[in-house]
Amino acid sequence: MYQVIARKYRPQNFDELIGQEHVQKTLANAIISHRIAHGYIFSGQRGTGKTTVARIFARCLNCIQGPTPTPCGVCSSCVEITAGNAVDVIEIDAASNRGINEMREIRENVRYRPSRDRYKVFIVDEAHQITKEAFNALLKTLEEPPEWVVFMLCTTEAAEIPITIASRCQHFNFRSVDFLQVVERMRLIVQQEGISADDEVLSVIARAGEGSVRDSLSALDQAIACCGNTLSVDDVRALLGMFGADSLKAVASAVTSQDGAAMLDIVQELERNGQSLQHFCRELSRYWRNLLVAKISGKPTTLIPASDPEQQALLETAGGFSEEDLTRYLNLTLELYKTMQYSLQPRMHLELGLVKLVQAGRLQSLEEALSGIPSAAKTQQPPRSVVASVTSPAAPPPARFTAPPPIKRAPEPQAEAPATTGDLHHDLSLALRAAKLEFSADALQQAAVELKGSDLIIRAPKGRMLALKDAAVAAAATKLLGRPVRIKLEVDESIVAAAVAAPKPEVSSSDLRDRAMAHPGVKRLQELFPDAQIRTVRNLNE
Ligand SMILES: Nc1ncnc2c1ncn2[C@@H]1O[C@H](COP(=O)(O)OP(=O)(O)O)[C@@H](O)[C@H]1O
Ligand SMILES: [Mg+2]
Ligand SMILES: [Zn+2]
Repeated sequence: MYQVIARKYRPQNFDELIGQEHVQKTLANAIISHRIAHGYIFSGQRGTGKTTVARIFARCLNCIQGPTPTPCGVCSSCVEITAGNAVDVIEIDAASNRGINEMREIRENVRYRPSRDRYKVFIVDEAHQITKEAFNALLKTLEEPPEWVVFMLCTTEAAEIPITIASRCQHFNFRSVDFLQVVERMRLIVQQEGISADDEVLSVIARAGEGSVRDSLSALDQAIACCGNTLSVDDVRALLGMFGADSLKAVASAVTSQDGAAMLDIVQELERNGQSLQHFCRELSRYWRNLLVAKISGKPTTLIPASDPEQQALLETAGGFSEEDLTRYLNLTLELYKTMQYSLQPRMHLELGLVKLVQAGRLQSLEEALSGIPSAAKTQQPPRSVVASVTSPAAPPPARFTAPPPIKRAPEPQAEAPATTGDLHHDLSLALRAAKLEFSADALQQAAVELKGSDLIIRAPKGRMLALKDAAVAAAATKLLGRPVRIKLEVDESIVAAAVAAPKPEVSSSDLRDRAMAHPGVKRLQELFPDAQIRTVRNLNE
């Protein structure tokens, strides 16, 4: 009978395990120094080795040559544990046996010595599913455990294990496994299976698992079922809904060369090949993310699941963009992905989204053009509430132009020592601009601030967090307030709505318009874009 690869290649001892070095080492030490606890919690992402480690550990404890970190693998205890029919190693799937009765049974069972082996081991899988009452029953056992009992609770949701239980257990958190280690492991497996697969294919499959070894091995199974003994990278990509670096890089190139037509061609090509547009969009977000990470770290990093040559290619591409650009593209693509998941017109949305990326790229030069706008005179009452909505036949993307960061709010007088006005939000936004943190200042527009002791609480929508989570922001706030403050970010999606719902200004609109027209920033804008018209004037304070 065919056995799936994930099960066939379940590691039987610590040597075969990949990743989780901290777990291996600590457990091995515990065995050598005879310090076996009565309760263990193995938590972490699925498919990272929790159940596997529990079984290996059980073998270590009960091997006839044990307790030993290197079980023999041939004694009846070892063999039975592998086969899952050892009398003294009891596996319970809490997903189906979660009630009080099962726990009572365990409690009964615990009282009797192991029938043959050294320890009576209870491996509880999906332990977070156990009911509250059942946990209580278990607690009684953990409070006064017989010397021969060891519980191993495996779970993806460590937070759902009651603290009363957790505090009586040793807790190990399993990490998602490094991409390169997964590739390595799969290389070994395909060799033993007589499958030919090059590094590129293995990379694609490893990436599909997103850090879960089991998911990667399942993808490998699928690939073998689909392609037979020789895995071709194109077939596997198509099977797993992944896309080659080429098609993703084509998007980046089209952004660089401001080529909307190329974007439309990309979509056309995807459709023609019957590829999933949603998948493409998901892969594209990952691509921007990887470029951003590459840009930030400046060298190959394990944060990117990619082989060395792939990392080099990413670094090279990232070199052509600024961090802000990449952040913006990632953001736009994530939003696009969200839209596309519910879209009845995925093609149109993808086209629109990709063309928007081109426009967002163009925005950059516009920002540069506007950077020469002078600040308001220092003595002048800051007309900080002014934004102009401008259209111009000469300046192409008007939609984006209504609110690009540099003119979203007219520049402020940049006093050397920021004069405080008592309006914390206003002062902070001034301070951020004075510190050249335009990006954060823009994000602050959509945030509420509150000072509590030395904590400066900033509530903002999730999308703004990145721009506000910056040591420089804390530094600017500290300087502003003249004492050390800590930034505390709280996600609050209602802020936008709140801003919109604010009461109407009392200033008459013609008044507002006059003030706006008199502002040097607006004047300069009109010089820069003589054909532009001012359509509306909005008070950003409201
Ligand atoms: N750290 C690992 N090293 C090697 N193989 C692993 C690892 N984690 C998972 N696997 C593979 O995935 C399969 C499932 O792992 P398992 O331990 O059941 O994961 P879980 O963390 O969900 O309990 C194993 O049979 C094994 O083939
Ligand atoms: Mg498991
Ligand atoms: Zn043994």
